[in-house]
Amino acid sequence: MSNAIAPFKFYCPTRVAFGVGSTKTAGQQIAELGIKTVLLVSGSGSTRKSAGFSALSASLSAAGIDYTIYDSVTPDPSAEQVAEAASAIRAGGLGAVVAYGGGSPIDCAKSAALSAANNVPMLEFSYGRAIPAIPALPIIAVPTTAGTGTEMSSAAVTTDRATGRKLGYTTESFFPRLAIIDPENHISMPQRVTAATGMDALTHAVESYLSLAANPLADAINLRIVELIGKNLRTAYLQGGDIGARSAMAVASSSAGMAFSQTGLGMVHGFAHPVGAKHGVAHGDANAIILPYVLTAMAHTTASRMSDLAAAFGACPAGTSAEKGARALVDAIIAIKKDIGIATSLSGVGIGPRDAPGILADALTYRMRARSPRAFTDTELGRLLDAAITGDIVAASGL
Ligand SMILES: [Fe+2]
Repeated sequence: MSNAIAPFKFYCPTRVAFGVGSTKTAGQQIAELGIKTVLLVSGSGSTRKSAGFSALSASLSAAGIDYTIYDSVTPDPSAEQVAEAASAIRAGGLGAVVAYGGGSPIDCAKSAALSAANNVPMLEFSYGRAIPAIPALPIIAVPTTAGTGTEMSSAAVTTDRATGRKLGYTTESFFPRLAIIDPENHISMPQRVTAATGMDALTHAVESYLSLAANPLADAINLRIVELIGKNLRTAYLQGGDIGARSAMAVASSSAGMAFSQTGLGMVHGFAHPVGAKHGVAHGDANAIILPYVLTAMAHTTASRMSDLAAAFGACPAGTSAEKGARALVDAIIAIKKDIGIATSLSGVGIGPRDAPGILADALTYRMRARSPRAFTDTELGRLLDAAITGDIVAASGL
């Protein structure tokens, strides 16, 4: 019995509608859920003016769904924006939220849907001062980036500007009721966003696979995700109009949201949240910069699992020894980062040793720290952060 698979649960209630052009079917699909009024949430920039947004709003109208637009979401949405969106939901007596855009509008819509349902500010839940009595209103997500996976996850992140903290919150009703994944909406994604969000998706799959709470079902999904990203991220970056690469990245990133909702993440995200909240570094870039250092420091703890990922990524042949495979994974991640223009160290994005204490204090409290396959001490995490700041991968390997 010693090899028995440990007990696990797997839950994802999100209905997925994948397909090129599927945005045009949004209204009809939302109407089939019995939804009649929605808050349509987006950022104010290019996505708001995109053909995809027009197609989505036209399909809502055609299906007889009344919508109110909230289009003031910025990257790393703040508690204030969530409160504005929640007020609009309550003022209009709206029955659901439809989010169009990257992770920021979708997360803002999720938090607003929970906050409005309970008439409680989101941060009360984020800080654990209150527990929702009522599930979030139905959430429909139409992603325009291939990264966060929030369209299929139970998590949303809210930024508390007063304290400079990004706070993740997880609850079952954050799984969208419907995710409309249309690669056509990804075609106009700028190169920088393609790079950062693609590396966020890769980090999700890697951290989910290496999590102490990994399970065989999530494993199967994560290995396929890593394979799809290994084969398609460079093409999506170099040839944004390649619908094949965009499709693969869209499927990979959404599936990663489902997988990490089961397993949790690890210390790459633990560091990336304060790096993003305090220093304005895009979430995917922060993950991509930190990922090789954390992996290097974990290599002797979880080499065999890292070797699985390396083979899936195309970094080494299947059957490569655990130690060589683990090294191949780190090398392959460093190589793809170089190809898609991501900095090699945190100093490359303006973060110096003086910033370390603030980042570290936040990272030490990361809610999923216990999922890390290596139980880093506080001191080790401090040295790991120093290595990521100065770009010293050798120091990370000596931890
Ligand atoms: Fe992430």
